[in-house]
Amino acid sequence: MLFLCCSKKIMITILFFLVCFAFSDGANVSSSEGRKGQWQLLLNSTGVVGMHVALTYRNTVIMFDQTGAGPSSYQLRRRFNGSMCTRRNHDLMDSSCYAHSIEYDISANTVRPLRLDTDPWCSSGSFLSNGTLLQIGGYEKGSKRIRLYRPCGNYQCNWIQSKKTLSDERWYASSQILPEHDRVVVVGGRRVFTYEFVPKTSPGEKSFDLPFLHQTNDRNAGGNNLYPFLHLSSDGNLFIFANRDSILLNLRRNKVIKTFPRIPGEGSRNYPSSGSSVLLPLDHRDNFQKVEVMVCGGSSIGALTAAGKRRFLEGLRSCGRMVITGEKNKWDMDYMPKPRLLHDMLILPTGNILIINGAKQGCAGYDNARNASLEPYLYNPKKSLGKRFTVLKSTKIARMYHSSATLLPDGRVLVAGGNPHGMYTFHNVAYPTELRLQAFVPHYMERRYHIMRPSNLTIEYRGGSHHAIGYGTEFRLRFFLERRPSNDVAFSAYAPPFTTHSFAMNQRMLNLRCKRLETRGGGWVVAMLEAPPSPHVAPSGYYLLTVVNGGIPSMSQWVQFAQA
Ligand SMILES: *[C@@H]1O[C@H](CO)[C@@H](O)[C@H](O)[C@H]1NC(C)=O
Ligand SMILES: *[C@@H]1O[C@H](CO)[C@@H](O)[C@H](O)[C@H]1NC(C)=O
Ligand SMILES: *[C@@H]1O[C@H](CO)[C@@H](O)[C@H](O)[C@H]1NC(C)=O
Ligand SMILES: *[C@@H]1O[C@H](CO)[C@@H](O)[C@H](O)[C@H]1NC(C)=O
Ligand SMILES: *[C@@H]1O[C@H](CO)[C@@H](O)[C@H](O)[C@H]1NC(C)=O
Ligand SMILES: *[C@@H]1O[C@H](CO)[C@@H](O)[C@H](O)[C@H]1NC(C)=O
Repeated sequence: MLFLCCSKKIMITILFFLVCFAFSDGANVSSSEGRKGQWQLLLNSTGVVGMHVALTYRNTVIMFDQTGAGPSSYQLRRRFNGSMCTRRNHDLMDSSCYAHSIEYDISANTVRPLRLDTDPWCSSGSFLSNGTLLQIGGYEKGSKRIRLYRPCGNYQCNWIQSKKTLSDERWYASSQILPEHDRVVVVGGRRVFTYEFVPKTSPGEKSFDLPFLHQTNDRNAGGNNLYPFLHLSSDGNLFIFANRDSILLNLRRNKVIKTFPRIPGEGSRNYPSSGSSVLLPLDHRDNFQKVEVMVCGGSSIGALTAAGKRRFLEGLRSCGRMVITGEKNKWDMDYMPKPRLLHDMLILPTGNILIINGAKQGCAGYDNARNASLEPYLYNPKKSLGKRFTVLKSTKIARMYHSSATLLPDGRVLVAGGNPHGMYTFHNVAYPTELRLQAFVPHYMERRYHIMRPSNLTIEYRGGSHHAIGYGTEFRLRFFLERRPSNDVAFSAYAPPFTTHSFAMNQRMLNLRCKRLETRGGGWVVAMLEAPPSPHVAPSGYYLLTVVNGGIPSMSQWVQFAQA
């Protein structure tokens, strides 16, 4: 009996084949074309704007905004230092009587407040190998700070501010976890044209000047190179995109080893033009050697100046895709159905890209955008040009500047935030502060596909159940299927991002090699999978492992990859 396992025909071992359904008479995915997904309202208020969001391996989502926003909608009875918050005017106006960070528990659908000691406004973040969130920079006293959040699952954990500080102020910087164990690089920031490592690679090390950040800085247009897009290539080099240009940086040698062609199209892609960027899924079939990025949307030239005069220029429709490895590096252009900026781009377990949130006109910054983009787009990278975009179901809730989104382990996408104002503002503005929490539920979660959905995933580690899986090693994944597997079973591993300002930092998906697929009795299937070959391909840490059967993903399971 022949089966496709990771698109490679192999013989499967049928140990006990008790039930055998004909596959063709059931629900199928090709009929899902035109399926638009659904929206769920989860909470009427998170209390705190989800300006920055990150999913932890404890199945909670950390969110925070800025302590400088003054009163949030999450009032505390006591300050984190223990003193009472009274009804007196002084306390009502005191920022420390309000939460500015929360932890959202996905299964309980509840939030709890978290303590912040300094302002993490417009900061960056990366997960370390043990699942601790390293969060970097912010504003004023927070601009050189490093904070750690160690997820604990018992509602006890909180932000811890490190005693170590950064060399430079990092406000609107981006960060990326590196192949070297638990090392993160932080790039750029407002008026900062350097990068640095956290922790440092040697004692006394400072930041490194990066002329590329000077070159790409539009001084009279708010920079247009803030929150640079960072992607770790599988050769260990760092891809940096800023404004319209991009380079490949060898961090060990502090050397630019490639300068890519400028992306076509007028306008800019980085803050405050705020397009978005994503690393397309890496694939075992080419040994993860082909690395491709996609940059979509942004603002037109002059958008910031025009917004200051209450004119909101139409954003960019164009997307560029470029393979950054190999010799031929060239942008292939495509066009979204409508112009878009301030959006997020997330990789779904199917390997398709969801483009969600944002607006059609203006740019980032307070009250600088109009014409909310209410419909998500689905982008299928495998289809031919002109057929890649599908418009999905629209929401009624505008998600403008300072909104965010992240993928959940069950396949939904959490959507939070939006506040194009310095303070929480609910009246007499075009786009009020948005505290409602939503989930976008992609079509693949529909009930009609349950029959195809793999379930009850168990990862069987060699030598115990609580250890990380070593690079390049085999591991077993057992799951349940009501019917025979389709002829297209794929296994993805997804590194959850830290999302803010339209960029999902550290987001990464790998299509893993399946060496053998065995059906057992009663619907059980066992897959022998191969862990990613190295931390260059997949930096150490927690990943969401998902079985995708004929386009229908299972709920994901956390798996940890690490150096053996
Ligand atoms: C499966 O897809 C085919 C082709 O699109 C369609 O004709 C058929 O009705 C679908 N079957 C079901 C059960 O949806
Ligand atoms: C949100 O508020 C509306 C109106 O008060 C209410 O009908 C709805 O049930 C609430 N939804 C949630 C998820 O709390
Ligand atoms: C707690 O913080 C408030 C506001 O910053 C300050 O006025 C108060 O003295 C602090 N109390 C303690 C016990 O540290
Ligand atoms: C994870 O690593 C960080 C940085 O080394 C450390 O501060 C933290 O305590 C560790 N967390 C756990 C759960 O071990
Ligand atoms: C919103 O944007 C669309 C697409 O660019 C445009 O056709 C429409 O006129 C805009 N609406 C308003 C009210 O400006
Ligand atoms: C799968 O897990 C669910 C929930 O834990 C359980 O109810 C169900 O019986 C399991 N299915 C199989 C086939 O074991």
